[in-house]
Amino acid sequence: MSSLAVLCEGLVHVYGAAGEEVTALRGVDFEVSDGETVALLGPSGAGKSTLLWLLAGLMRPTAGVVEVYGRSLATLTRAQASSMRLRDVGVVLQTPARNLLSYETAMGNVLFAQRPTRRPRRAKRRRAEALLDAVGLGAAAHRRAGRLSGGEQQRLAVAVALANGPRLLLADEPTSQLDRDSARAVLELVAAANRDLGTTVVAVTHDPDVGVALGRTVTIRDGRVGAEGRAGEEYVVVGRDGTVQLPDDVLEILPPGSLAEARRTAEGVELLPVDRRYP
Ligand SMILES: Nc1ncnc2c1ncn2[C@@H]1O[C@H](COP(=O)(O)OP(=O)(O)OP(=O)(O)O)[C@@H](O)[C@H]1O
Ligand SMILES: [Mg+2]
Repeated sequence: MSSLAVLCEGLVHVYGAAGEEVTALRGVDFEVSDGETVALLGPSGAGKSTLLWLLAGLMRPTAGVVEVYGRSLATLTRAQASSMRLRDVGVVLQTPARNLLSYETAMGNVLFAQRPTRRPRRAKRRRAEALLDAVGLGAAAHRRAGRLSGGEQQRLAVAVALANGPRLLLADEPTSQLDRDSARAVLELVAAANRDLGTTVVAVTHDPDVGVALGRTVTIRDGRVGAEGRAGEEYVVVGRDGTVQLPDDVLEILPPGSLAEARRTAEGVELLPVDRRYP
């Protein structure tokens, strides 16, 4: 048995019909161990949400391997994928309202999410109350989700995603609409799920605080994993075709399109700019 929560190998995703394709992922290699917490970083349009959708089984990849707890998602039926999300994988999509039943109350949403569990009704209510309190929505329990503000919907979506104590939480910018205190409350709830239940976490974020809180960072740029970071250190990743995405400070010296000499040194590799005017 592998202790991998997530495995992606050469993952490719192309949107759109022939003639108007958009390649969102062009060979992503990505692993997350069971119980790990990872922040997915990267510029807008890099492919972060696409990767999350594939991990949630909401779309099928165009090519490559995508596995969650050893199970390949490429061939799951819609029903199998939704059963996986209901029981094992909590998902927070980037648009908060898409995670919720708008006509149901906040409480109703967290209760509905618990429908596959065998807990008695009273236990489900207690769990819902505790989750709503934890995200600061205790007083909004009986308000309809569709009437909540964007930030309130975002907090509710996290409560819903954690309702069944999932093995894996996939969250797309879960704090983007929150003030510092609400964001901290959401992060604490996620951290508690990881600590107490061993929930593995993959969260897309632009928020440096979230990246720091999650420990390991993976940066996606232009549909590939470009860099990995641990404990504040950033490392570039050599792709399977040998490509490397240079960090911004290096790009100032070697802008895209420039020529460089790659030279072995005693310690590793040196990239020396070549003056193109005198090749
Ligand atoms: N349904 C779609 N149809 C066609 N192209 C799409 C679709 N969804 C995303 N794309 C394109 O795929 C690429 C990756 O998009 P994605 O949403 O994964 O990026 P992202 O990293 O999540 O960006 P952001 O930080 O802005 O949310 C972009 O070029 C985007 O325009
Ligand atoms: Mg996105």
